[in-house]
Amino acid sequence: MAYSQHEILVTGLKNAYALEAHAADVTENQARRLVEYPELQRRVQQHHEETVRQRDRLDECLSHLGESPSTLKDTVLRLVGNMQTLFHATADDEVLKGTFASAALEHYEIASYKSLIAMAEACNERFVAEVCRQNLREEEAMAQFLDSNIEHVTRTYLAKASSGRESQSGVM
Ligand SMILES: [Fe+2]
Repeated sequence: MAYSQHEILVTGLKNAYALEAHAADVTENQARRLVEYPELQRRVQQHHEETVRQRDRLDECLSHLGESPSTLKDTVLRLVGNMQTLFHATADDEVLKGTFASAALEHYEIASYKSLIAMAEACNERFVAEVCRQNLREEEAMAQFLDSNIEHVTRTYLAKASSGRESQSGVM
């Protein structure tokens, strides 16, 4: 079956909208649970606010194309959903697994925005391409923060766990 480039772009934007809507819930939940990791908590809270704006910008892109976001549970969400259920397991190293999952999610989002930018450019949709570049920059900054904090979070967790202070607070 053949699809127009425009239809493919619209589907990609709907998927990205569904992903960010879900990521907004996930980051809100994470931020609440990270009380023992204040630096990580602040950054996750900041990214939660960015994620809400990213979702709204995608909504604007869809309106710009005469479309509206789909509220359907999408296959894209299965990946995130699966990662999340993994971290609802009450492992006390939840903060580590949650950090790995968040890093994976940011890289998924980065790949998705790079693809959307290529689609938007192919369709000559400059507004959409610019919005996706803006979202991409925020995802790259968050991925960079997580990547450069894995060792630090690990050392903090080790210190807390070995002194018996690690609780069930985790990222996801
Ligand atoms: Fe993100």
